[in-house]
Amino acid sequence: MNEIAELFRRITLGVYVVGAAHEGRLGAFTAVWVTQASYDPLLLAVSVNPRNATHVLMKASGGFAVSVLKQGQLDLARRFGTPLESGQDKLAGVAWRSGYLGAPVLEEALAHFECELMSCAPAGDHELVIGRVIGGRILDTDAVPLTYADTGSMDESSSLYAASFTDTR
Ligand SMILES: Cc1cc2nc3c(=O)[nH]c(=O)nc-3n(C[C@H](O)[C@H](O)[C@H](O)COP(=O)(O)O)c2cc1C
Repeated sequence: MNEIAELFRRITLGVYVVGAAHEGRLGAFTAVWVTQASYDPLLLAVSVNPRNATHVLMKASGGFAVSVLKQGQLDLARRFGTPLESGQDKLAGVAWRSGYLGAPVLEEALAHFECELMSCAPAGDHELVIGRVIGGRILDTDAVPLTYADTGSMDESSSLYAASFTDTR
């Protein structure tokens, strides 16, 4: 792993599952690029790869849910963070319910937020999707959040960075 990839991995981040639904189609993916973006209104920003199948569902439906993963849920992070073989259903066998606009919310998560999509902005090879928090719940008050560092090399991100980084200061 190159130095910059390593540095990015050390930034403290949680692990989330972002879900959306549109016209009977459901999607959910693991995301770590999730952050608070405003106090009033309460906003969340999620950086989404437009290639994710769930991206189109977030935009078409105008809403999404963010489930917060906890320690012990690496298996869920892997399941929702890995591309599906055709015909597979990521949500099969997982306890979930429909949240705002049908977006899947994981029932065994530490907590969840339900968001109304407010705006989108290009962010390099991702898109920054901003959602207004319209609901949410803490489901497990004693749990410790899962962190990005806990996921090791699960996202294979070291291969996504350019082979050499040029300092452009
Ligand atoms: C630990 C981890 C973190 C990830 N973080 C993000 C992220 O912040 N944004 C993103 O768009 N994809 C992220 N991904 C990749 C998606 O979860 C992955 O491409 C997923 O298969 C997309 O699912 P979908 O095509 O069913 O929507 C992450 C994957 C892992 C394993």
